[in-house]
Amino acid sequence: MSVLIAADFEDADWDAWWPALTAALPHERLVRSIAEAAGDAIDIALVANPPAGALQGLNSLRLIQSLWAGVDKLLADPTVPPGVPLARMVDPAMNAAMAETALWAVLGLQRDFFDYAASQRAAQWKPMPQRRASDLTVAVLGQGQMGRAVARRLVQHGCRVIGWSTRPCEVDGVQTHAGDAAWPAVLAMAQIVVNLLPLTPATRGVLNAAAFAQMPRGASLVNLARGAHVVEADLRAALDAGHLHRAVLDVFAAEPLPAAHPYWSHPRVTVLPHIAAQTDPRSAAAVVAANVEACRSGLPLAHLVDRVRGY
Ligand code: NAP
Ligand code: GLV
Repeated sequence: MSVLIAADFEDADWDAWWPALTAALPHERLVRSIAEAAGDAIDIALVANPPAGALQGLNSLRLIQSLWAGVDKLLADPTVPPGVPLARMVDPAMNAAMAETALWAVLGLQRDFFDYAASQRAAQWKPMPQRRASDLTVAVLGQGQMGRAVARRLVQHGCRVIGWSTRPCEVDGVQTHAGDAAWPAVLAMAQIVVNLLPLTPATRGVLNAAAFAQMPRGASLVNLARGAHVVEADLRAALDAGHLHRAVLDVFAAEPLPAAHPYWSHPRVTVLPHIAAQTDPRSAAAVVAANVEACRSGLPLAHLVDRVRGY
């Protein structure tokens, strides 16, 4: 039996992942393509953003393990074999990286550091009133692995934090709300909205004109989840009308963000190249190995995706 790694890796990614995975899975035959398996059955696939069709025809699969936390692209591929358990990446190191990115964005917005960077480019000396963390209410959309880590870090920082999820949950220091009925109130309370929802049919386009209109004038959006959560034209309109102050965006409907995209030069948009929380092979390889071993031993698999919910 072989374990297929189906990934859109650059050479540098392979240089990090191959030694980490071969060390974590010393008894497995790892292959980088179906051809390399040379007829040996592939029963486990480790996938990282593979092209559509990469798992087509693999009839012996018993586990699909994503090296990414979000599985929206996999679930959108109709050729991914149905009925095979699909596990996603859950790694505390990744949650910590996401919390760092969110803290950076919130701190930058709180203290106007993004605006000071723009002032520097214009050679303008323009001090602004200084805000405390406790002056800010931040809504964190999604209270899963990433959302909870972010919410906790922002509570430590001193912000008032509101969490939003499908099902009610409790997070120390966080005012939590659940369900669609709470959505308008959550947005209305937030000077900063940090998006950490999974991309599903229910959440696609959820950050649209109606949502921006609910947010108070001068509020900002930090999108660290998926580009398709945001209706781009609505966001640009809300920024250009001065209703929203700034958008800090790590993710986009089209990635890499095309060179001609207006976000690149928009004065109140900050662009990151989808790096809010990269999977780190140094810790993630052990997460993969634990699930591969569970699969081989017939033990319960961890971090399974509910294909109906879409996350
Ligand atoms: P997760 O653990 O599955 O958590 C998802 C959260 O969203 C849960 O709290 C869930 O509510 C909530 N949710 C889902 N659908 C909802 C809806 N319709 N209304 C309200 N709440 C809803 O996911 P995660 O590990 O935190 O990751 C979240 C997303 O972050 C990923 O799917 C991925 O897209 C993105 N991500 C981005 C990067 C990056 O570098 N930019 C890195 C990693 C992940 P319940 O708790 O009630 O189910
Ligand atoms: C990155 O965006 C991930 O989903 O892991």
